[in-house]
Amino acid sequence: MPHDPRPAVSPRPAAASRSFATAQVQAGFDPGIAENTAVPSIHQSNGFEFRSLSEARDLFALRREGNIYSRAANPTVLVFEKRVAELEGGIGAAGVASGQAAVAVALLALARQGEHIVAARQLYGGTVDLLQDTFADWGIDVTFVDQDDTDAWAAAVRPTTRALFAESISNPIAQVLDLGAVAAVARAAGVPLVIDNTVATPYLQRAKDFGADIVVHSATKFLGGHGTSLGGVVVDLGTFDFTADPGRWPQLTETYRRVPDGSLVERFGVSGSPYIALVKTKYVHDLGPSLSAFNAFQLLQGLETLDLRVERHTASALEVARFLDAHPAVARVHHPGLESSPWHANAQTYLPRGVSAVFAFDLPGTGDPDADFELVESFISRLQVIRLVANIGDARSLVAHPASMTHSHMSPLQLAEAHIGSTTVRLSVGLEDPRDLVADLERALEPITIPLPQLADSAAR
Ligand SMILES: Cc1ncc(COP(=O)(O)O)c(C=O)c1O
Repeated sequence: MPHDPRPAVSPRPAAASRSFATAQVQAGFDPGIAENTAVPSIHQSNGFEFRSLSEARDLFALRREGNIYSRAANPTVLVFEKRVAELEGGIGAAGVASGQAAVAVALLALARQGEHIVAARQLYGGTVDLLQDTFADWGIDVTFVDQDDTDAWAAAVRPTTRALFAESISNPIAQVLDLGAVAAVARAAGVPLVIDNTVATPYLQRAKDFGADIVVHSATKFLGGHGTSLGGVVVDLGTFDFTADPGRWPQLTETYRRVPDGSLVERFGVSGSPYIALVKTKYVHDLGPSLSAFNAFQLLQGLETLDLRVERHTASALEVARFLDAHPAVARVHHPGLESSPWHANAQTYLPRGVSAVFAFDLPGTGDPDADFELVESFISRLQVIRLVANIGDARSLVAHPASMTHSHMSPLQLAEAHIGSTTVRLSVGLEDPRDLVADLERALEPITIPLPQLADSAAR
């Protein structure tokens, strides 16, 4: 396990008494190192020098805490981990190289060969690839269910199920998960609920408050916020008791060969997050998707302004969504802040500070996929402010066409089940002046001719 080797020279307020805005700037860092830096340093060192071979032996055996090698732990990464853990209200975190790695190692530490996961159908396309292809190769079975169908979640649970998995706000349609309902299913099944909180961020939603047990992020997105650095993080919220049914979790409760004295639960105690110890000492250690010190530093810079940025992102997104909703050349807007959205009520319950800056809208489709593609392509080609980039949560506003880009590996049925059509356009609203974004969209929509039935429809809206 990594540790913070630096002495805490000044007393810090207890985490519980620290507000979100203070934690996002200060958590995880005590500037007590010899160099006296006010900002966490980039510890760009692959390895760390041991004082003696005995010390090295103890560190390798996890008998004591300290730095060994940056694939397993790094002091800059540690600050990032502590900061995100505090923002999510968790007891421990593992920083990794990407969001994709975070989802992978979070679930691999729970479900092993022959075991099973229930996941929402409405997921980022890369996650669907991971779960349906790579996990299948490894003998981990995944059942996908409509995330709004609580009975389907419950019906999909098997004796071998080891996790439920969903995004709190789905990418790209911005469906807001009824987290409380899915958490109740997870509790009844005796398995943890793992939530991808990438789009919401801990500022808009602390998934822990609604029953999640583990949170993952693509820190590449809003946590970093500037489109410069890939990263991911897994946070143990400390709510799931792996000792309640120890036979289900032998990886945590039985002798772990990598520690000399018994199981991870015995070594770290329930409150020391044996789960994160497993993620780090086995999956990150063995597979190697480590977060670099430089990227951790960049992500920390982003975190310092998370609340300010997310407030601007979400306010601008709502303004853009309202404009699109009123535009006759737009067939449908999928934004949970709109009263007409099927997820508006969930948004009010789960996202009181504002809703998603990532959302989608549909241009009027023709039913012919080639014609629809051309329509979307010409629309995107007219945008001058909003950029065609496969990313979200950037300071810049970005557009994407999920059916041919981020979700292109999904079958027509899977796309339909995730409400992604051939004319669905995803927006990630950035930090520009929203008036410029509206003007950009207005200009790009202007030449689109509206089929007559849809014209009547939009007049009625
Ligand atoms: C919701 C969500 N989760 C996970 C990922 C994967 O993150 P990364 O690209 O950092 O690997 C993405 C990427 O778009 C995403 O949108």
